[in-house]
Amino acid sequence: MHQKKKHLFRIGLFAALLLPALILASTEAPETILINTEGYKSDRKGPVLFTHQAHAEDYGTTCDACHHVYENGKNVWEEGDAVSKCKECHDPNESKGNIKKLSIAFHKNCMTCHRESGSDAAPYKKCYSCHKKN
Ligand code: HEC
Ligand code: HEC
Ligand code: HEC
Ligand code: HEC
Repeated sequence: MHQKKKHLFRIGLFAALLLPALILASTEAPETILINTEGYKSDRKGPVLFTHQAHAEDYGTTCDACHHVYENGKNVWEEGDAVSKCKECHDPNESKGNIKKLSIAFHKNCMTCHRESGSDAAPYKKCYSCHKKN
């Protein structure tokens, strides 16, 4: 093959292989998420920058440690299913039965695992290791 054509062919192949992967990654598991929910009556702490992809891929956990849809007390959410924002079910301002209000749900989710992980790199005591200063 001519040198230039070969090069173009390589670029084409590269794009064909890589692009779908990139698009998939951005719709399925975003790399980082700035958690900054609107709707709290009093928004006392700054937003939280969350390393979503590292959590999903590098920290030895699975999607359903955080994402759930309960049916008869059982989590039926599976990877590939749509993901709703936590606040679609957890109200920012009040708990409703066993559906805790949003800040409790987040703190319970994040901190329980951090405490149990035994990793010094998993913060659960210092507020500003998660929250940005307002
Ligand atoms: C492991 C991470 C983490 C730590 C540590 C943490 N938080 Fe949070 N907190 C969150 C997340 C995530 C939210 C949800 C933010 C949102 O919805 O915008 C949140 C929400 C809140 C909210 C409700 C939203 C607001 O800004 O008013 C308050 C209040 C709060 N945290 C207080 C604290 C205090 C006080 C501490 C320290 C004792 C603390 N948090 C430590 C992760 C953390
Ligand atoms: C350690 C907790 C955790 C893990 C593990 C996790 N996620 Fe998430 N994910 C979150 C949080 C928190 C949000 C933001 C929710 C919100 O803003 O209310 C989120 C948001 C999302 C979104 C929506 C993004 C958007 O921009 O609307 C998708 C899609 C998603 N996650 C897919 C996945 C998939 C797929 C996996 C496994 C490969 C996964 N998550 C693993 C906590 C997690
Ligand atoms: C589709 C609705 C829905 C969404 C979206 C949702 N939750 Fe929940 N969540 C529930 C329900 C319902 C329960 C109560 C389950 C039970 O105890 O039967 C629950 C329970 C929890 C619990 C357990 C509380 C406990 O007592 O142990 C935590 C923590 C939690 N959710 C955090 C989150 C976080 C963080 C997100 C976003 C990443 C989220 N939830 C998204 C419906 C939802
Ligand atoms: C199922 C377990 C689990 C859950 C749930 C979880 N984390 Fe973590 N997180 C970890 C582990 C493990 C580490 C430490 C990784 C290491 O040792 O390098 C960590 C590290 C971190 C760090 C410091 C390193 C970094 O990547 O920024 C932050 C900040 C953090 N988590 C925020 C959060 C927030 C916010 C939530 C809730 C929305 C959350 N985590 C939920 C397991 C978890």
